Formats: sequence, structure tokens, C-alpha cells
Amino acid sequence: MSIRHRCLPAHRIYRNLLMTIFATSCFLCFTLFTHPLIMVHNNCVHCSVSNNYLQKIVHEIYINGSSAKQPINPTNIEYIHEPLHVCDLHIGPDFLLVLVKSDASNIAHRMSIRQTWGNISHPHIKVIYLLGYYSVVQDMIDIESKTYKDVLQGDFVDIYDNNMNKTAMAYQYAVENCGNTQFLFFVDDDFFINILKVNKYLKTLPDTLKSNLFSGCIIKRAKPYRNKSSKWYITREEYPYDIYPNYPSGGAILMSMTIAKLLKTAFPYVQYIHIDDAYLGIVAQKLKLPLHNDERFDVVHTPPMRLKTIFASHGYGDHRQLLVIWDVFLATMSLNSSTDLNKQLQKS
Ligand SMILES: *[C@@H]1O[C@H](CO)[C@@H](O)[C@H](O)[C@H]1NC(C)=O
Ligand SMILES: *[C@@H]1O[C@H](CO)[C@@H](O)[C@H](O)[C@H]1NC(C)=O
Ligand SMILES: *[C@@H]1O[C@H](CO)[C@@H](O)[C@H](O)[C@H]1NC(C)=O
Ligand SMILES: *[C@@H]1O[C@H](CO)[C@@H](O)[C@H](O)[C@H]1NC(C)=O
Ligand SMILES: *[C@@H]1O[C@H](CO)[C@@H](O)[C@H](O)[C@H]1NC(C)=O
Repeated sequence: MSIRHRCLPAHRIYRNLLMTIFATSCFLCFTLFTHPLIMVHNNCVHCSVSNNYLQKIVHEIYINGSSAKQPINPTNIEYIHEPLHVCDLHIGPDFLLVLVKSDASNIAHRMSIRQTWGNISHPHIKVIYLLGYYSVVQDMIDIESKTYKDVLQGDFVDIYDNNMNKTAMAYQYAVENCGNTQFLFFVDDDFFINILKVNKYLKTLPDTLKSNLFSGCIIKRAKPYRNKSSKWYITREEYPYDIYPNYPSGGAILMSMTIAKLLKTAFPYVQYIHIDDAYLGIVAQKLKLPLHNDERFDVVHTPPMRLKTIFASHGYGDHRQLLVIWDVFLATMSLNSSTDLNKQLQKS
């Protein structure tokens, strides 16, 4: 769904050094807050844009419940199917909700995810699937939704150009229905997720990051595609600049509910572009939200033996391949089955 630029991996030592500098500068940045949404931007590399327009709108909505400014994007997406008992009070999740963006027609693929990394049985971690409408497979989706009760289907046609509708739906559902959930993980259906590693990372996050987490493989200074034959072609009318703001590569983005609420509130006021992850970068820049790069969101293919070290890995569009890789993964973890993995997840 997203642009497949690669986030350039820094050398490990530099990475640690950079992370320290990043953490320090952002700590400074946060301690310099005069108000939760209005930051003083000395000393903060991510705070260099002096456009407060969007911040003011979001601030107004947070304080007054509404804004006098007219939204330019739809503010409500209707659902055809909703997951059952996913975020009901006291049922959960209150820790992590994984939202898997999936083409409506990828039925077999969603089935493989449910049999592999998505087979999570945990009271505070849930997985749901985000679909649009596609008439040809609707009968099957009705059955799928009834069987697994984990489908969120929006009332818009499931085509790439409606990508932003699906993204907006994900945030709308998470914020409105799962507001008590601490973290959200937005992933594409061709990713492999190592939930044990993600869980451990979130459990051991430093306090400074807990509510401000906005993390992924951060794409820096990417150029918009101006070649008409590209899937990611974008006209100058849609996006006039020569460079995108830094953005988290779309296939695997981890964030706190606090950040998701800010983004969701801002979406109606920022002109959509059909490239959803670059769009997140645009909104993040306007809200001055720091992005946190982590190489463990691997947007290229990870050698199977290294899957135990990463959060996410890209390139599992073939559902049979996912089943094969799952067995390899369990073996490298010395686990015999999903049941073992779930036991370990419950313990950690
Ligand atoms: C909230 O609404 C009041 C009354 O309309 C207005 O005076 C005030 O500026 C608004 N607050 C914000 C933060 O916009
Ligand atoms: C989908 O998004 C487009 C803007 O990109 C908007 O015009 C349209 O109304 C949206 N459709 C629905 C059903 O929300
Ligand atoms: C645009 O992409 C096509 C197909 O990938 C390629 O043949 C062509 O040379 C490209 N044009 C430009 C101007 O880069
Ligand atoms: C996996 O199975 C082997 C052999 O039955 C057993 O010794 C081992 O303890 C099992 N591993 C786990 C994590 O349950
Ligand atoms: C998930 O794993 C359990 C065993 O832990 C198994 O019984 C169940 O059939 C699996 N679910 C799917 C959809 O394969």
C-alpha cells in the first residue's frame, strides 16, 4: 500500500549514538512544552516548521470539542462489518491493537495470517483486518467476518486510490472504539510480525516514549514519483513540492494512542494525498510530532534466521510462503507451536 523506499540503515554504533542524541533532543523538546500541543522548537531537529495552523485547530478541538474551521476531508466512514468484542470495556485490548491493512480479495492471505503470526490469544492484544468493499468477494467476506469476527470493512470501494479512506477508517475505529488501548500497530498484510519482540519492546519502553511513540522505518527526504507509469505517481497539483517530509514507511507503524488521537483529529483538515504513509509524514510535520526510526521495522525481506530479532519484515505476499516461514520462525525460537508462543506472550 505504501511507497517501497528503503530507510537507510545507519551503522549500529552510529545508530545508538544517534538514538541517544535523538532521545536527548526530544526530551529537551518535550520539557520545553509550554502547552501539550504548542512546542517551543529550539533544539529540536523535528520542530523546524513554523506553521501553527493545524496545531491550533487540533488544540481547539481538544479544548472546545469542535473547531470553527470547516473540514476538507470526510469526517465519518461507515462500516459494513465491525469486529466483535475487540475493544469492549473490560474485554480488551488495553495494551496493543494490531490493524492489518488488507485488500478485500486477499482472503487466503488473511487466513494464513490467522494461522501464523496473527494467531494471538491474549486478553490485551488483538488483531483486526481492514478492508474496503469489493462486490465480487462480498459473500465470502460476509462469511469471513461472521466466522472470525475480526473484520473491519468500510463502505468504500477497495481500490488503491481509496487508500486514504482505509487509513482514515483505521484511525477512526481505533480512537473511537478502542480509546483505552495503549498502543496501535498498523501493518500491511504482506508483512511478517514478530509479536513477542514487539510486546517486549513496548513493555520496556522508556517513560519519555510511552505516550509519544511514533515509530517505524523512517524514510528520509524521499522524492515524489513524477513518472506516470509508477504506482506511486503523484501530480504536482496533488503534491507540489520536490521532497516529502520524513515519514514512517507504511507497512509497519507502531504508535501510542496519544499520537493516533492527534493524527485522527488532524486528518479532516489536511488535504489527502493518495500515498498514505507520505501523508502521515505531512501531518506529523505540521503537528511537529517526532518520528522514531528503528531498523527492526524491516521493510525489505529479512533472512529467516534473523526473524527472531526484528519487529516486522516485508515481502510475504504469498500466503503459502508465510506458512513455511512461520515454521522456520518457531524453530529458531525453539517453540513447537502457536500455543507455545502464546504461553510465552502471556508470561512476558
Ligand atoms: C473555545 O471557544 C471559545 C468560545 O467560542 C473561544 O473564545 C475560545 O478561543 C476557544 N478555545 C480555543 C482553544 O480555541
Ligand atoms: C474517500 O476519500 C475521498 C477523498 O480521497 C473522498 O472524496 C470520499 O468521499 C471518501 N469516501 C468515503 C466513502 O468516505
Ligand atoms: C518512466 O518509467 C518507465 C517504466 O518504468 C521507464 O521506461 C521510463 O524511462 C521512465 N521515464 C522517465 C522520464 O524516467
Ligand atoms: C517442544 O517439544 C519438545 C519435544 O516434545 C519438548 O522437549 C520441548 O519442551 C517443547 N518446547 C516447548 C517450548 O514447549
Ligand atoms: C491458532 O492456534 C491454536 C493452537 O494454539 C489452534 O488450535 C487454532 O486452530 C489456530 N487458529 C487458526 C485460525 O489456525
